[in-house]
Amino acid sequence: MQHFVIVGILIVIMSILTYFGLDAAGLAKQMHPVSASAQAVSIDWLWDWQVIAMSSLFALIFVPLVYSLVVFRRRKGETGDGEHIEGNTTLEITWTVLPLFAVLAFAYMGAYSLGETNRVDPEAIEIKVRAQQFTWTFEYPEYGFVSTELHLPVNQQVVLKMESADVIHSFWVPEFRVKQDVVPGRVTDYRITPTLVGNYKVRCAELCGMSHYKMENPVVVDTQADYDVWIAEQQANAAAAQTPEGQGQLLTVKYGCIGCHSVDGSKLVGPSWLGIYGSTREFADGTSAVADDAYITQSIREPLAHEVLGFSPSTMPPFTLTDEEIANIIAYLKTLK
Ligand code: CUA
Repeated sequence: MQHFVIVGILIVIMSILTYFGLDAAGLAKQMHPVSASAQAVSIDWLWDWQVIAMSSLFALIFVPLVYSLVVFRRRKGETGDGEHIEGNTTLEITWTVLPLFAVLAFAYMGAYSLGETNRVDPEAIEIKVRAQQFTWTFEYPEYGFVSTELHLPVNQQVVLKMESADVIHSFWVPEFRVKQDVVPGRVTDYRITPTLVGNYKVRCAELCGMSHYKMENPVVVDTQADYDVWIAEQQANAAAAQTPEGQGQLLTVKYGCIGCHSVDGSKLVGPSWLGIYGSTREFADGTSAVADDAYITQSIREPLAHEVLGFSPSTMPPFTLTDEEIANIIAYLKTLK
């Protein structure tokens, strides 16, 4: 009996030491990036209890093992066999019932946390998200504009209706905790209530191609006043963009073209658009062509038609745009000199 008391006390001490040791090593609470959403609260709470459970389990195995090795070791001169023990009903019932309750408790905590995370606010603002290799675009249907930055008002639930244009991506803002895949052919929901004003980033958390690591866009949590100002600015920009060039530029945001094509001459996944209209394009097979309307139209609809020297056309999916959309994009490209 005395052994059980000593081991019991040592297990409690060891559990506490393990928990604080993990925390000091940055593996418990400190590991979290700042918590910036209402949903993060129950997720962090669940995580913390799991670390406590893991620390206790570790102590429960480690302490009796080391205690037995030290206290019941064979002493000098001892040559006899150990005591023969057969079964211990009390112990067996204990180690069946306690884990059963632990598992039931965590099942309840997990279900509770999931319920909190999915809690629906009928007033939630709806924003459409489009994921594609290798950028995110955000459409505010209420206001009629698209943006490559996601702005959210603080303390208000938003529901992101997410669609993919090509492969599976995954929407992840670490500070919000919640992560959701974006799957081609269906719309997935992502509910979040930001609680902390600040600048964050959405990262794609699903390996989606060569430039997967570049697939991140700004996420800004604004005060209501700043959010209203930003919305008004975006609406004004959208209204000012009624020319073909302006429409073309909006399309390059909407379809995510600018994720791979720069407008300032820098080399991304695809050729830069700076000065591209009317320029001579050199191809990998040694031939060349002038980038006129026909060439650009073909390059959008059938990217595999030409392999521009230094670039792989297979990273670009074919885009089925209308003639008018393509004309607007060409009008925009002509302005990039
Ligand atoms: Cu999209 Cu990784």
